[in-house]
Amino acid sequence: MPLEIKKDFLGNIISESDGLAEIINDILYLDKLEAGTTPLNIEHKNITEAYNKALKPLHQLFDQKNLHHSEVNLLKNEFFYFDEMKMIQLFQNILENSLKFANEQGMVQTKFQEKEGMLKISMFITGKKIPEEDLEFIFEKFYQSKNQNIRKPLGSGLGLAICKKIITAHGGTIAAKNKEIGVTFEIFLPNQTDRT
Ligand SMILES: Nc1ncnc2c1ncn2[C@@H]1O[C@H](COP(=O)(O)OP(=O)(O)OP(=O)(O)O)[C@@H](O)[C@H]1O
Ligand SMILES: [Mg+2]
Repeated sequence: MPLEIKKDFLGNIISESDGLAEIINDILYLDKLEAGTTPLNIEHKNITEAYNKALKPLHQLFDQKNLHHSEVNLLKNEFFYFDEMKMIQLFQNILENSLKFANEQGMVQTKFQEKEGMLKISMFITGKKIPEEDLEFIFEKFYQSKNQNIRKPLGSGLGLAICKKIITAHGGTIAAKNKEIGVTFEIFLPNQTDRT
């Protein structure tokens, strides 16, 4: 067999096994979250800083896709009690989804505000809507909506299940809503800034 073809085969095997390793890691991580064997490491941290740590490694991919990103920060106090690593993971899952599902030249707008004594983070992503009947199921593991319009959907339907576990462990909520030209993910985190 010519060397070039062998190289191609090996390249395919490596990328397929990387994908499988990622899925296995996600399954194991979700298992741990479900079993409660990864306790939260709650610290008093700046939430917009945590968000920007999640965004930073994805900047280049946003540029490649011509996906515009903006932030609206209405918070007077940006410090909350949360597990920074886990919240970074939550943001990253939603940002990675936006790289997959947003329209080219679309946008992601993330807004931070306080609402009814809670931290509210809304992430609006332009692109395909999620069929109404799927909205409550996309947070279940392995559930992928038919909105992907492709035979072999990308990923394995674990990202949002992980997000839901992370936010409920914090006593918060996450939900998706369809908008005129896309989808908004609304995250509520209890405001425990006066915790001692
Ligand atoms: N921004 C979005 N716009 C439109 N649909 C979305 C968006 N984010 C998620 N979805 C829908 O919700 C489904 C579940 O998302 P989830 O992140 O759990 O899985 P995934 O991205 O398909 O796979 P994985 O996260 O394991 O790589 C997606 O398959 C897609 O149908
Ligand atoms: Mg995902």
